[in-house]
Amino acid sequence: MALRNILVEGEERLRKKSRPIENIDDRILTLLDDMAQTMYENNGVGLAAPQVGVLRQAVIVDIGEGLIELINPQIVETEGTQSGEEGCLSIPGVVAIVERPQKVVVKALDRSGKEVTYTAEGFLARAFCHEIDHLSGTLYIDYPHQIVSTQEDEEK
Ligand code: NI
Repeated sequence: MALRNILVEGEERLRKKSRPIENIDDRILTLLDDMAQTMYENNGVGLAAPQVGVLRQAVIVDIGEGLIELINPQIVETEGTQSGEEGCLSIPGVVAIVERPQKVVVKALDRSGKEVTYTAEGFLARAFCHEIDHLSGTLYIDYPHQIVSTQEDEEK
């Protein structure tokens, strides 16, 4: 495994559409492993492949309940709305309030190529929406949002 460099907002690749993954080969498995290491190293709760410069449809999420890897994820159902705090490793040091669905159903493939379905609510639903948005080049700042803190506000 290796740490990968996280692209920061302003970088063109963050705004491109990612391509579906047709073959889950060693390169993709290494990508997923590297993404996990990179996310944990940066204390993130999610990471999408385009954030490390790879325009393929892979995202990972871990909100403290274990690592979830999603290949070619699709949001197939949404329900309700929630308002809450959100950050992005590509927009370092900023936290903002963004509206998201309260509940989502996501279909994807896991690393073995098996179809998986996740029904998520609350913060996990938010994390799925945020990461899957990266695959179409969308960042949370594209939505109405209210910045609640920046790194300059913190003591460190
Ligand atoms: Ni992000």
